[in-house]
Amino acid sequence: MPLAATDPLSIGQIARRTGVSVSAIRFYEDKGLVQPSRNAGGQRRFKRADVRRISFILIAQQLGLTIREIRDALAALPDSRTPNQADWGRISAGLRDRLDQQIDTLTRMRGRLDSCIGCGCLSLKACQLYNPQDRLSRLGAGPHMGIKDAD
Ligand code: FES
Repeated sequence: MPLAATDPLSIGQIARRTGVSVSAIRFYEDKGLVQPSRNAGGQRRFKRADVRRISFILIAQQLGLTIREIRDALAALPDSRTPNQADWGRISAGLRDRLDQQIDTLTRMRGRLDSCIGCGCLSLKACQLYNPQDRLSRLGAGPHMGIKDAD
């Protein structure tokens, strides 16, 4: 018998609809990201809106949010609702700022790594990867101290 549009979904049905494994959905439940009800037999029953909620979780994970951050974003919505279009617009704008910050941090790290490529000194005093303030930059680009200098 085909499902009615309002029928709750079993964990297998929501897994098929979202492409997420059953074990991942159980994990999301353990972390409080989805909160299925239970039927009389104790089986999980998901709302149709949980398909969209899981889509949100997958996209947020792709963007680098931690499970805690995703849980916080979902918990901030009134009545534990699934993010609607306006919610997603607001949340995604915040994510863009966060991604810009991450790109900036990674770009700076890449610049520091460039000065290490081919060096290998691993100097705690000179290497910019350990030395973000780059205390020896006044001496010019590249390594200025060796491993023996780091003792
Ligand atoms: S390994 Fe980083 S400056 Fe030498």
